[in-house]
Amino acid sequence: MNNFTDLVTNRRSIRQYTGESLLPSEVEQIMKATLMSPSSKNSRSWEFVLIENKEMLKKLSICKSSGAIFIENCALAIAVLTDPLKTEAYVEDSAIAATYIQLQAEDLGLGTCWVQISGRETETGYDSEQYVKDLLEIPLQLHVGCIIAIGRKAKVGKPHSEEKLQWEKLHIEKYKNEPTS
Ligand SMILES: Cc1cc2nc3c(=O)[nH]c(=O)nc-3n(C[C@H](O)[C@H](O)[C@H](O)COP(=O)(O)O)c2cc1C
Repeated sequence: MNNFTDLVTNRRSIRQYTGESLLPSEVEQIMKATLMSPSSKNSRSWEFVLIENKEMLKKLSICKSSGAIFIENCALAIAVLTDPLKTEAYVEDSAIAATYIQLQAEDLGLGTCWVQISGRETETGYDSEQYVKDLLEIPLQLHVGCIIAIGRKAKVGKPHSEEKLQWEKLHIEKYKNEPTS
């Protein structure tokens, strides 16, 4: 990718993957970038579980009733965890780390999709966060923010279109002022 603007314009959630595995150097680069992500009070409250095992990916793909099934076919799933005992901003820390994973993967030409875990349930009504903790043997106190599915793109998403940007969401100086156009 040439520059950051191209990167964010072209990044789309990818839910179809070729099945090809990632190179160790790609995984290393993704994690290197992620470990450089900013965190509250530099607490680096994160922990990451990297999963490539097919059986485990299949089990993770049913961690919630919808919106996770594509995990089964990704090359690598990264569970993004943070420790609430390290900072009150643990949710933010996990979200930023997850975003770094997505952007670095996109820069490598890989597709990703965020799978929300906290606040979700499995088909049978079991808490998704607990389901993931059980499977991956994650300590009880850790927060499971999300799982990022990564793989080689089987389908390329349409780039974001400038026409669809919601400029009306911008409020200049005060909320009630006229939005920009
Ligand atoms: C906090 C968050 C939670 C999301 N959860 C899911 C999810 O559980 N399953 C899924 O398929 N996509 C999920 N997504 C992806 C969004 O659906 C996607 O980012 C959004 O539709 C915009 O599309 P784009 O990523 O292609 O720009 C999530 C994204 C975010 C930021």
